[in-house]
Amino acid sequence: MAAEAARRIAIVTGGARGIGRGCALKLAGEGCDIALVDVLEPEMARTRAELEVLGARCLTFAADVADHALARDCVETIRREWGGIDILINNAGRSMPKGILEISEAEWDATIDVNLKSCFNWIQAVAPTMLEDGGGRILSMSSLNALSGGVTAAVSKFAYAAAKAGILGLTRALAKELGPTILVNAICPGLIKTEVAKNRVIAEREPELVKGIALHRVGSPRDVAELVAFLALSEPCFVTGQAITVDGFQWNM
Ligand SMILES: NC(=O)c1ccc[n+]([C@@H]2O[C@H](COP(=O)([O-])OP(=O)(O)OC[C@H]3O[C@@H](n4cnc5c(N)ncnc54)[C@H](O)[C@@H]3O)[C@@H](O)[C@H]2O)c1
Repeated sequence: MAAEAARRIAIVTGGARGIGRGCALKLAGEGCDIALVDVLEPEMARTRAELEVLGARCLTFAADVADHALARDCVETIRREWGGIDILINNAGRSMPKGILEISEAEWDATIDVNLKSCFNWIQAVAPTMLEDGGGRILSMSSLNALSGGVTAAVSKFAYAAAKAGILGLTRALAKELGPTILVNAICPGLIKTEVAKNRVIAEREPELVKGIALHRVGSPRDVAELVAFLALSEPCFVTGQAITVDGFQWNM
């Protein structure tokens, strides 16, 4: 019988709910142990219990991803507890539905910090250990909004679109800088039914919205998680520096 493959260690930021929870469950089902990072402690505890039912070891960190020093501290703890880190999923993010005439400087800064600076924080924290250990996969959650600028009929999302577009440049540049040891990719989800999107965007507009989607449905966290698992786990993998869209081919965003 073949020896049991070593369990891989994955960090999922914003893993308490939504797309992050979906990715964490999928990776746990594929034999990963999961470190969750989120500000929503009760939701994170529920997701932790679900991961443990799947047989995964789990660590939880109640931490703001925009905090640079905290990212380093969390990674140090994970290294101490589990020895290394194989996969980083930069998933935490928040929307900012305010136009250029309404948004405050603080709101702009917070949007950039949570969506873009967070990726810098966590990549800088994990890169030394991944390089030292000879491999790693980094995935960051961008958005279809980075490519389209957002739905014209909806409230403006220019700050969010700018932050998510920043992830694409960061991904391409770091794929070069960290290759060939670390693979770095971005994912651009279209409309995915999660707590936030359900309330703010989808609500009662779902029948109208799906008319602009080739697959005639909005996505689910599972749809994104399948792509994440491929990019995080497939061997061999010749994909790096890419922004991969998972949107059922949506042309109305
Ligand atoms: N749902 C969609 O349609 C959609 C589309 C494109 C991109 N995205 C992106 O996918 C990611 C996940 O979105 P979602 O729909 O699951 O949203 P969600 O709000 O359901 O989940 C986001 C998670 O991130 C956490 N989070 C937010 N700010 C944080 C912070 N400062 N520190 C730590 N954790 C924080 C939240 O607590 C939450 O658990 C986000 O980056 C989002 O921008 C979502």
